[in-house]
Amino acid sequence: MNIYCNDLKIKDIDKEVNLFGWVNNIKLLKNIIFIDFRDISGYIQILCKKNIVHLWNDILLLNNESCIEVFGIVKKKDKLNIEILAYYINVLNYSISLPLDINNINNSENIRLKYRYLDLRRRDMLNVVKLKSNIKFFINNFFFKRNFIEIETPFLSKSFYEGANSYKIISRIYKNKFYSLPQSPQIFKQLLMISGINKYYQIVKCFRDEDLRSDRQPEFTQLDIEMSFVDFDVLFNLINNLIFKIFLRFKNYKIINCFNKLNYIDSINNFGTDKPDLRNSVKYNFDFSLFLFKYFFKEKKIDNIKTIIINNIFNISNINLIFNFFNKKKIKNYCCIYIYNKKNNIFKYKIFGNLNINDYYIDKIFSYLNLSINTFISIILLDDNIDKKILVNIRDYYCKIFNLFKNGFYPIWIINFPMFFYNKNNDISAYHHPFTMPLNINLNKLKSINNYNLLLANSYDLVINGYELCSGSQRIHKYYIQKEIFKILNIGNKYNFFLNSLKYGAPPHLGIALGLDRLIMLISGFKSIKDVIAFPKTTSGLCLLTNSPD
Ligand code: AMO
Repeated sequence: MNIYCNDLKIKDIDKEVNLFGWVNNIKLLKNIIFIDFRDISGYIQILCKKNIVHLWNDILLLNNESCIEVFGIVKKKDKLNIEILAYYINVLNYSISLPLDINNINNSENIRLKYRYLDLRRRDMLNVVKLKSNIKFFINNFFFKRNFIEIETPFLSKSFYEGANSYKIISRIYKNKFYSLPQSPQIFKQLLMISGINKYYQIVKCFRDEDLRSDRQPEFTQLDIEMSFVDFDVLFNLINNLIFKIFLRFKNYKIINCFNKLNYIDSINNFGTDKPDLRNSVKYNFDFSLFLFKYFFKEKKIDNIKTIIINNIFNISNINLIFNFFNKKKIKNYCCIYIYNKKNNIFKYKIFGNLNINDYYIDKIFSYLNLSINTFISIILLDDNIDKKILVNIRDYYCKIFNLFKNGFYPIWIINFPMFFYNKNNDISAYHHPFTMPLNINLNKLKSINNYNLLLANSYDLVINGYELCSGSQRIHKYYIQKEIFKILNIGNKYNFFLNSLKYGAPPHLGIALGLDRLIMLISGFKSIKDVIAFPKTTSGLCLLTNSPD
């Protein structure tokens, strides 16, 4: 068995060892050469003395990143550390100088991706690929112990409706016909439930041709799960348990008091997003907005009135920054009120911004809100056409200037999403996917409904620190309901084989998929999913290493 340099400890002093690895750095003194040696486990100093080591002249020719085999004896370097006194260095291969600095994180991304095999020599990259391998092993064990069956599903299949475009694969045998790479194993895992496999999981590659961003790659890995005969709480506990254990084992972090459930609509009203980052506790106050709407801003839309109340603010010296922020974001109508004192039962306050709030308003607002001093109030009137992403930017901004950010990991389940949405062309689409069970509705009601906006889905996402980590739903297992949903979405024919399968005693089932790369990104602390995938694509979908697509 190979020995790695990190395995060697003080107790190994005087042991003979044989190591394989790379020259991380080399320093030549008169009759001594110091090699900073690196292997997959870490680093160790190799001491070469001219009068001891063989092939001195070969060693003189060594440069950084040459591949070597070392024979030597473990020696004490100082009180706590050891080094290897080499008696023989076998040069396995010399290296030309590298196009990137492997001891530095600031290499350009293009160079890193073009020479990914060298970029992966960097310690943080090695650590992340090891982490992914260990987490996969842990997950397999977790599900094996709970009697789940791991089943592979096809990569060459048909294009199904999952929100993105599918990659097409040309068929050699059938002219003008294509396979499609799966966006997820969704249909197949449901068919497995119909086969009677009641607990399925798979760690699987998925392929999506969609716009990329820091947490999206065209090929990525899901932990895919499906179960029959259980309700959401069983799945909920399973996932919470898995996430809790993974964070404890691989991050040494104990998740406490989290995994709460929040309705989609409440998430939008409180946080301005369905992916709230709870490290930021700044919230919109929907009730206060409603109050302002009813009494002062009747002509506005309630969704455009946003209010935030933050208590215990003791310093507003950087208030000017807020104006710059609002100007930059092109928000025209806003005001901030800061209550700094109370005398004779009357609040002393400062008011800033261009929204005209007179004393009459202020009195009403103060008596509506049960206020205390050192409270900061922000009232913002948004324009109709403003990008709703601004809602997260505003919360993040207040969080930053008032120093309210808490470190840690804060998972939250967002549940009961809308069933449908209308896209830019006003076409109706499924919010999760077309196999999701609508919430609290029977077939007759479904057939007679005329406002699909009101329909909710039995679906759920697990969000951690602003990232959607998992997404899933209760599935439709009744033929007529599925048929009706396909009809609403106008996507019948392609799915006939699937629709048919529901006629053969399909069991009630539900499932979820967890984005493994996103999980690794959260645990390793990287900001981009590219850093946790061994051979990723650029944000424009290119593989710079192999020059594909071509
Ligand atoms: P969904 O499409 O929400 O659901 O995907 C599930 C999870 O997969 C991850 N993910 C991605 N990760 C990296 N790059 C991407 N392009 C990407 N797209 C998605 C996310 C996401 O939460 N079949 C359903 C699941 C189900 O209903 O069981 C599905 O795939 O972490």
